[in-house]
Amino acid sequence: MLDKTAPETDEVFLALAGVEVVYSNKTVALKPVDLTFSNKEVTVLLGPSGAGKSTLLRVLNRLVLPSRGTVILRDLGELKSRKIVRQHRLRTGMVFQQHQLIARMTALQNVLLSRIGNYSFLRSLFPLPKDERIWALECLSRVDLLEKALERCDALSGGQQQRVGIARAIAQRPDLILADEPVASLDPASSERVLSTLRSICKQDGIPAIISLHQLEYARLFADRIIGLSQGAIVFDGPPDQLDETALEKIYGARPQA
Ligand SMILES: Nc1ncnc2c1ncn2[C@@H]1O[C@H](COP(=O)(O)OP(=O)(O)O)[C@@H](O)[C@H]1O
Ligand SMILES: [Mg+2]
Repeated sequence: MLDKTAPETDEVFLALAGVEVVYSNKTVALKPVDLTFSNKEVTVLLGPSGAGKSTLLRVLNRLVLPSRGTVILRDLGELKSRKIVRQHRLRTGMVFQQHQLIARMTALQNVLLSRIGNYSFLRSLFPLPKDERIWALECLSRVDLLEKALERCDALSGGQQQRVGIARAIAQRPDLILADEPVASLDPASSERVLSTLRSICKQDGIPAIISLHQLEYARLFADRIIGLSQGAIVFDGPPDQLDETALEKIYGARPQA
């Protein structure tokens, strides 16, 4: 029997129509692609280095401009004008490989930084309101780091820093989370913790997430949907249990990566 929430899972949140990316040095990083992303789904972009994962993610918040085609958001329309790009970025939580925290600032200050975009420049020069600080602490608590809130980020482990990165992303109250190789520099235990934290928050809050990974085993564990990329082309798109040897060969070439 269908779960009551099931129809919502099918709502398209974001679509790419004929999007192609050719960099100025003529590298075709993304071949023309049509894709839709649904609400509430955790999608993993899987592929070897150079496959086009970062390019695809960057097109989704216009850090890279498509050479052709359009990105369309359900509620805002085409991702093109400065105003729409700004609105979209404000509500998109980004998690990066190098967590991009400010090392000498505390975990709490780093999380609060994500809120500053919501204030005028002048207002942002003063301490943010108390309810913002409480919200930032709640976000740190959700990634299990409340007790580290006042520690400098450079005193935290790599995995803890990446969880601060997640707290910072969710502090924006995002409608979408984009994560580019969020565990590339972490050991296996920290990687699993970071990805399971990210997945469970997205599932609890109904936030769609698009996460690039090069590790097959994590894609299998944490994705609802896997999009396999090879040399700028989408060569697989389906649930983890359909990712068979044939699909892996298309993604990684003759010798699938473990
Ligand atoms: N700014 C850029 N200028 C030129 N070529 C680039 C640039 N960024 C990436 N590329 C190239 O585009 C291709 C896809 O890169 P990328 O999207 O970073 O792949 P991935 O994230 O899967 O490793 C690669 O061949 C890469 O060398
Ligand atoms: Mg990349």
